[in-house]
Amino acid sequence: MKRDFLHITDFTADEIHETFALAREVKARLKNREDYKPFKDHTMAMIFAKPSARTRISFETGFFRLGGHAIYLGPSDISIGKREAVKDIARVVSRYNDVIMARLFSHEHGLELAQYASVPVVNGLTDYNHPCQIMADMFTILEHRGHLNDLKVVYVGDGNNIVNSWLRLAQRLPFHFVCACPENYQPDARTFVEAQQAGLSMVEVSHAPLAAVKDADIVYTDVWASMGQKEEAEKRKIEFQGFQVNDELMAATGKESLFMHCLPVERDVETTDSVVESPASIVFDEAENRMHAQNAILLKLCGKA
Ligand code: CP
Ligand code: NVA
Repeated sequence: MKRDFLHITDFTADEIHETFALAREVKARLKNREDYKPFKDHTMAMIFAKPSARTRISFETGFFRLGGHAIYLGPSDISIGKREAVKDIARVVSRYNDVIMARLFSHEHGLELAQYASVPVVNGLTDYNHPCQIMADMFTILEHRGHLNDLKVVYVGDGNNIVNSWLRLAQRLPFHFVCACPENYQPDARTFVEAQQAGLSMVEVSHAPLAAVKDADIVYTDVWASMGQKEEAEKRKIEFQGFQVNDELMAATGKESLFMHCLPVERDVETTDSVVESPASIVFDEAENRMHAQNAILLKLCGKA
């Protein structure tokens, strides 16, 4: 049976821990320039319906460094679901490639792609979630803290695809997760209930960011208007008043908290330039670790680890 990685919950807790250990090992091998080419003679199709910097670069570079070849298919190449049915593309691409990475609007298209593909499919973001990002994020937290005990992560901003992946992770690993968002911008209701019902992590929604961040180890934010919502950007700037991660909010943790953002950041909108540039900010470690976490995920899915 081929495996896919469309949600963090597609992996067990043990597999998530194994992925972090493998990411650490492969990261060291790449830093040491070891001759390690598990993907020799392998190809990966990367289907992008949306723009990207980190996802494209980290997947393409990572796969190349492990001996493989990655093919970038931009929004106008395949036009998935428009020029051609998702289920047809799934089977065609599977005939040429060993693995598929897809960044799509519709999460349902991602599910359909995986259903019809005969090779593993990795989710590089949909409107619903962004599992590779949050795997890289937790790996980054593990690197910085040395452990994941007594961890409080407070996300401040839009209850979007990033939050849904944090809530999925909370179903597998124990930590305290708070989403501080305006009332009309809550995370997916079903995902939130599932995270609560898993009974592993404490998960909360708050509408009071200054109070929510108290004792936070991590303060995390993301853009207020995601890809596909940019026409709402001005309206959202008004509705998200009070939810900016600025120096005052960081001070309200009362702790030496770390700042994280999946990037790209809109400076002086959801967070300030001063926070991004502060010593608390680990956003570039986080960006680098996309590559290492994804390499580990690909190695596991392709039966190389
Ligand atoms: N964080 C992230 O996924 O960045 P890109 O949209 O640039 O890929
Ligand atoms: N929520 C953002 C994440 C970008 C990496 C978006 O979907 O645009």
